Amino acid sequence: MTLTEEQFLQLDTVEQECFHGSWTREMLLEEINNPLSVLVTEQRDDRIVGFALGRVVADEGELYQIGVLPEYRRLHIGGKLLGDLHEKMKGRGAVCCFLEVRSRNAAAIALYEKSGYERISVRKGYYDDDDAVIFRAQLRADTI
Ligand SMILES: CC(C)(COP(=O)(O)OP(=O)(O)OC[C@H]1O[C@@H](n2cnc3c(N)ncnc32)[C@H](O)[C@@H]1OP(=O)(O)O)[C@@H](O)C(=O)NCCC(=O)NCCS
Repeated sequence: MTLTEEQFLQLDTVEQECFHGSWTREMLLEEINNPLSVLVTEQRDDRIVGFALGRVVADEGELYQIGVLPEYRRLHIGGKLLGDLHEKMKGRGAVCCFLEVRSRNAAAIALYEKSGYERISVRKGYYDDDDAVIFRAQLRADTI
């Protein structure tokens, strides 16, 4: 996905607001320019208010980040982003998508479960202050 400089700065703002700068601007730029990366965005009021970013390697997708600006949450933007990301991943040959989330991130877990993800394992103490839960969604049948 090609972004203008202004769109990239809007994307970075969403990243900062949702993840408190867990990725630097340079990391974000490098990731979206990686040929394996898959990015989808949503705009409202002439600016990017949400994005989902992941990768497809062989036939597996992985979601790295999904975020929606606080004032635009609970408007089904997150669900749309996830659906759009899945479609793009399928277009790149993915049959499934994995993700990892903090066990106490109730909003994200509710979104993932509503979007077809199933919990497959827990990494105890993965974060300093929380466990990580691994989810997987089947995007399409893996046999033809
Ligand atoms: C997780 C996040 C992306 C959800 O975005 P969103 O646009 O608000 O999600 P949606 O409006 O599409 O929600 C879809 C469904 O998910 C569930 N859900 C979403 N937020 C929820 C919340 N705060 N509490 C309970 N359920 C929630 C609901 O079932 C909702 O459907 P409903 O509104 O019809 O009940 C958003 O809260 C966010 O940006 N959080 C901060 C970043 C983050 O933690 N990202 C995930 C880790 S990478």
